[in-house]
Amino acid sequence: MAKTEIYYFTGTGNSLSVARMLATQLDGALIPIAASDDQDEIVSEADVIGITFPTYYADVPAIVRRFARKLVARPSAYIFGVITYGGAFGTALSYLDRLLQSQGHGLDAGFGVHMPQNAFHKFWENRPRAFRRSAQRARAIATAVEKRQTGMDYTNRLLQAAISPFAKSFERSSIRFLEQAAGTASPSGLTLEALIPLIDQTYIASDACTGCGICAQVCPVGNISIENGRPVWHQHCENCLACFNWCPVDALRGSVSKNEYHYKHPEVTLQDMIQQRSLRSGD
Ligand SMILES: Cc1cc2nc3c(=O)[nH]c(=O)nc-3n(C[C@H](O)[C@H](O)[C@H](O)COP(=O)(O)O)c2cc1C
Repeated sequence: MAKTEIYYFTGTGNSLSVARMLATQLDGALIPIAASDDQDEIVSEADVIGITFPTYYADVPAIVRRFARKLVARPSAYIFGVITYGGAFGTALSYLDRLLQSQGHGLDAGFGVHMPQNAFHKFWENRPRAFRRSAQRARAIATAVEKRQTGMDYTNRLLQAAISPFAKSFERSSIRFLEQAAGTASPSGLTLEALIPLIDQTYIASDACTGCGICAQVCPVGNISIENGRPVWHQHCENCLACFNWCPVDALRGSVSKNEYHYKHPEVTLQDMIQQRSLRSGD
C-alpha cells in the first residue's frame, strides 16, 4: 500500500479540515508544516505527498515557501498541492510548483478548495453550503489522487483564467495594502515576501487582554512572546490571523482585523492549533 503523507499549514482551521478529510480518505499521516519549520531539510520517504494550505494575497504563505524549498522527496513520489481560498487564488499553485521544481520535483497535480473567507466579511457567503461543498471537493480530490491524476485542476477555471493576467497588478495592490498595514513608507521598495512578516508592527492588545498567552501558543511560527503580561510580536508574522481569532477575550487589534471580523473553522479546536507547532510525523 502507498505510504501517504498530508502536510498542512492553517491559521483558522480551513486547511486543517481539508487536510484531515484527505488524510482519512487516503489513509495517510497528517503532518503540520509548522512543526518542521526549524529544520534545514525535510526528507520524506512517502509515495504520495499532499501539501494543504491557504492562499494569502493570491500567493503561497511564506512558511509553505520555506517548506517547499526544503522538501526532499523520492523521485518516484506523487506530489499534489491543495490550496484553500475564499475567492480566488490566482497563480499560487503554479508558484508552488516552481518552488518544488527547484528541489528537483514539481507538483504532479494541484487542486483548489473554496472555503469561507477568513480575512473579511463576505455578506453573500453561505457557510453551511461552503462546508458541504468543500467536503465533496475533498472526496473528489482524494479520488483524483488515488488515480494519480496529473495537472492543475482549478475549481473555477474561468475565474482563474480571467484573473491570471492581473496577477502582477494584484501583487502591486497587495504591496500597497501591506505597506499601509505595516506602517512602513510607501513605496517602501520592499517585496511582498519582505513586507508580510512586518504587518504585526501595528498589532496591539487592548486592556481586555489578560496575558493568558493563548496567542503565543497558537502562533504557528512562535512569533509572539508574553512580556509584562502582554503579547509582543517579533516581525515574523505569517498573516494567518490565528492570534486574533483564538484570543478568548477578543483583545487583539491590528490593521488586518480593523473590521473586527472573526472566523475559525467550527471543527478545529484550540488544542489542534497548539499542536500545529509540536506534532511530528507518527505522533
Ligand atoms: C492575509 C490573508 C490574505 C488572504 N488572501 C486571499 C486571497 O488572495 N484570495 C482568496 O481567495 N482568499 C484569501 N484569503 C482567505 C484564505 O485564503 C481562506 O479563507 C483560507 O481558507 C483560510 O485558511 P485557514 O483557515 O487554513 O487559515 C486570505 C486570508 C488572509 C488571512
